[in-house]
Amino acid sequence: MPSLFKEVMRMKENITVLDLAKRRKSIRKYSKEPVNINDVLYAISTALQAPSGANRQPWRFILVTDENVKKKLREVCERGEKRFYESGKAPEWFKKWTRERGITWSKPFLTDAPYLIVVVSKKSEPYSKESTWLAIGYLLLALEEKGIASLTYTPSNPREVMKVLRIPENYSLEVIVPVGKAAEEKIKEPRLAIKETLFYNLWGNIFQKTAITSNIEC
Ligand SMILES: Cc1cc2nc3c(=O)[nH]c(=O)nc-3n(C[C@H](O)[C@H](O)[C@H](O)COP(=O)(O)O)c2cc1C
Repeated sequence: MPSLFKEVMRMKENITVLDLAKRRKSIRKYSKEPVNINDVLYAISTALQAPSGANRQPWRFILVTDENVKKKLREVCERGEKRFYESGKAPEWFKKWTRERGITWSKPFLTDAPYLIVVVSKKSEPYSKESTWLAIGYLLLALEEKGIASLTYTPSNPREVMKVLRIPENYSLEVIVPVGKAAEEKIKEPRLAIKETLFYNLWGNIFQKTAITSNIEC
């Protein structure tokens, strides 16, 4: 076996959840190029393994591929986003944050991405939202493992979106995840370090690096 190939295979085998989490970015521009449906199903299967309150598994998924449904979703979402952006209700920091990233009411990823995974939670189940978002986290990492780009898009008018998809009232729309090939290069949004986010035993005690943790970046 050529050594470069061997090296790539070795790297693939040793890839950790931390590697995937560090690598993953929210992608807002997609090529129309299809991705392998089996990889998408692999990611959904991974999501199904998430823990949930009393193991009630309150999540349901809708895999949207139909161009007409995607078009309708885009229309409805953009209408809602336009209302939101024009209302001026958003705080100043959010307006600045979206402006710097070129995020507007326009959501072309809803028609460009080959698949949309809509995730809903059953309202009556215990910890329904918490459990469903855990499943969404699993989904994102599994997509990343397969080299598939994703975004957790949370429309500002979920009820109108639910009507388009005929989702019953006892479910709550959590997210639309466009999945596909990235059509943009992005730098990773910065993350807080362990020392800024982890306390030791009591609130406020800064976690000190020890021999046990010495191979973890803090
Ligand atoms: C609960 C939640 C809701 C989000 N909603 C949106 C959204 O509606 N539109 C969007 O463009 N990004 C949305 N995002 C993506 C975040 O902006 C993104 O994860 C964050 O800026 C960090 O960037 P990264 O995912 O590239 O690391 C959402 C993320 C989460 C976790």
